[in-house]
Amino acid sequence: MTKHIPVLLGAVLDALGDINGKIIVDCTFGAGGYSRAFLSRGANVIAFDRDPNVIDDAKKLMQEYGDRFQFVAKPFSSIADLDDKVDAVVFDLGISSMQIDVPERGFSFRYDAPLDMRMESDGMTAAQLIEKLSVQELTDVLRNYGDVKKAAILARVIKESNPQTTFELRDLIHNPKDVAPVFQALRIAVNDEMGEVERALSVVPELLNTGGKCICVTFHSLEDRIVKNIFREWTTPRGDPRLPVVADAPFKMLKAIVPNAHELNENPRARSAHMRGVLKSC
Ligand SMILES: C[S@@+](CC[C@H](N)C(=O)[O-])C[C@H]1O[C@@H](n2cnc3c(N)ncnc32)[C@H](O)[C@@H]1O
Repeated sequence: MTKHIPVLLGAVLDALGDINGKIIVDCTFGAGGYSRAFLSRGANVIAFDRDPNVIDDAKKLMQEYGDRFQFVAKPFSSIADLDDKVDAVVFDLGISSMQIDVPERGFSFRYDAPLDMRMESDGMTAAQLIEKLSVQELTDVLRNYGDVKKAAILARVIKESNPQTTFELRDLIHNPKDVAPVFQALRIAVNDEMGEVERALSVVPELLNTGGKCICVTFHSLEDRIVKNIFREWTTPRGDPRLPVVADAPFKMLKAIVPNAHELNENPRARSAHMRGVLKSC
């Protein structure tokens, strides 16, 4: 199985600065590339992942780092349940190479497998979601999460055929350019990925200590737009701009970063990544 190569890790570490002794929440543990880098720089890490298959990698870090590393096998919106404030919250969104490359998980149109696409082991599979949604709702999923052209026609074809496997779905999509966007759209819907990001970000301002940072690495424009808009809101001065006294914004924007040519060469999966970050200033 392909080992996941962490994307934009150097940029994330640069943005975080000195993390020795700090508490960092790694919202998307994956293969633990980010968590390991934070721990090796002296941070305490609380990591989340909704995928039960990552537990072996998490156990290795527990053995190596003891109390400095905690793992929570839950969706990252559960950061709302953390009791104490932290110094950084980091998201490396999307799916890992391990998830894409295990055929039976049904994320990839390259392997024939049941149409599953769940990051967790419970909840509705993509095949069940297609059965449950109306043609209109499926059209919206394809349009909003995949920017699929002729989404209404395709949604009707998919509903009528009721695909149960990745290849059955793939073969219904006549335009090859639509295959990846259709799979992406269904994956986002199955896992409520946008809802998760919005719910988690909504608690970050309260969770962070002053001077703390929130860093997000995104992989497609919809996700990136949500993060950008939320960060813009946090970094906009409060109050009526026509009045002489306007309260400072609670956050400052950090420089946005995309992968350089070297990283893209080493890891083609980094090609659509963007890193955005904010610093809690008061
Ligand atoms: C791109 S990978 C992270 C890779 C990680 N940074 C590394 O260096 O190995 C994304 C991971 O986030 C997890 N994930 C995605 N959405 C999640 C959510 N809402 N809650 C918890 N984990 C999530 C996925 O299961 C996957 O393992």
